[in-house]
This record gives sequence, structure tokens and C-alpha cells, in this order.
Amino acid sequence: MFKHVTDAPFVKDYAKIANDGYSRGWHERNGGNLSYRIKSAEIESVRPLLDFSKEFVPIGATVKNLKNEYFLVSGSGKFFANIKGDEENNIAIIEIDDSGENYRILWGLESGGRPTSELPAHLMNHSVKKDATNGEHRVIYHAHPVNSIAITFVFPLESKVISHLLWEMMTECPIIFPQGVGVVPWMVPGGEEIAIASSELMKKFDAILWAHHGVFCSGVDFDLTFGLMDTIEKAAEILVKVQSMGGIKQTITDDGFRELGKAFKVNVNEDYLN
Ligand code: 13P
Ligand code: ZN
Repeated sequence: MFKHVTDAPFVKDYAKIANDGYSRGWHERNGGNLSYRIKSAEIESVRPLLDFSKEFVPIGATVKNLKNEYFLVSGSGKFFANIKGDEENNIAIIEIDDSGENYRILWGLESGGRPTSELPAHLMNHSVKKDATNGEHRVIYHAHPVNSIAITFVFPLESKVISHLLWEMMTECPIIFPQGVGVVPWMVPGGEEIAIASSELMKKFDAILWAHHGVFCSGVDFDLTFGLMDTIEKAAEILVKVQSMGGIKQTITDDGFRELGKAFKVNVNEDYLN
């Protein structure tokens, strides 16, 4: 049992990753959002500090398999730069109701506000990943990393093309995201439509690019999810540099990717190899 919600390790880990993302330059102003599906022992460790008196309000999506689950989420319009050290005012613990259609705030956003405008996308992605990974994935992370956005203006918005290019940029990429990355065409953010498009792709991928906007990653814990974002963004940065130096002159072969898969015991997506 903790004296303050902010003493709980899951809140500290959340704030650390938010701050790391900010330090990387991925969160201008209020850009990006982060959500964590809280474990039952973790919610018990802070339960006496939660306020169960607020009304439930609609999520804007239906997530039946997340009913009665608890999430730690960033606030809409809140700056990632401010999360660490001022958690109470910038993030919130929310509870999903019995129908999977509504949520209420139990802690946080003390000076007012509501969860991220991308809450439908976060919760629909959590819903898909909870099923697809037998409950292992708990983190959904959206950021605005420069190079990952830049490449969506230049290369075809096709998952196969972009995944293959990113794999080529750094030998460990096909090991870290062997399935590749999904690509969502440009859409208005913050609504159900982009949430549905994203969650469809999350059935297959752990990371998706939102054209001209940013990246969504899913993972087991904060480190792995952040690490996936970091790897994709670094590969995208190399791609921008390679393109700026005149383009690819030599690269890793597809048989090279197959050998990597064997050596590191991962299934590199054969549909994306030639
Ligand atoms: P929020 O401030 O509502 O989280 O929105 C930021 C963002 O990145 C929208 O895609
Ligand atoms: Zn965004």
C-alpha cells in the first residue's frame, strides 16, 4: 500500500518513459499519448487512494474485453514535458465499466481535463492486443517522431515497401519488428474511424505509422514499447540520411533477412520478402 499514487512503481515507470520520449524530441507541445493496462495487484496497491464517485462517460468505442479494467492514461492537451514531477495534473487512472462502453476517472487530472483525444484508438488497440497476446501486451504508445513522419511524405504508403526499407536500415530491425510495420493513410485523428483502422492493423503488427502524423506502438512493458518506437525512429532517421546522400547503393539481401530470422529464431514476414 502506498501513501501517494505517484509512489507506485507503475506510475514512476510511466513518468520515466514519458520523460524519455520528451527528451528524444517526440512530444512537441501536447503531441503524443501513452496508456498502460494496470495489473490487478497494482490497482489493489493504490485502491484506497482512488475516488469511485465520478460518473461514467462514453469512450467513443466499444471494448467488451476490457470491461472492469483500469488504465493509466495521459490527459488531452497535456504536455509530455510536464508529466514527470506533476503526474496528478497531467495523467489519470481510469476504470472501464461493465459494458465496455464507458469510463470514469478515479485519480489524476486534478486541475481538470479529460483523457487523451486518442482514447478510442488506445483502448481499441489494447482490446485487440489483449486478445492477440493472451493478455501480455499492456502498453500502447503514440509519439510524433520526426523521421518516422518525414518518410511518409516520400515513400509509398504501403506497409510492405516501408517495412522492407526500415529493415534494410539496421541489421537488428527485422529481429525487433519481424512482422514489419502497418501503415494508416492520412485521416483525421482523435475519432473512431482512425481507431478502427489502427486496431485492424494492430491484429497483425506491433507498430503502425500514421501517415504525416506519427507512430503507434504496442508492447509488453514500458521498456519494450519505448524500445520499439526508438528502433523504428532510428531506422527512419538512417533512411532519411541515406536518401539525402543519393539513395541506397548496396543493402542487405532478402536471403540475409531469412538467415537473420533463423539465427535469432524469429519469423521474418515472408510476405514482405521477395
Ligand atoms: P492529446 O493531447 O489529446 O493526447 O492529442 C495529442 C495527439 O498526438 C493527437 O494525435
Ligand atoms: Zn498525435
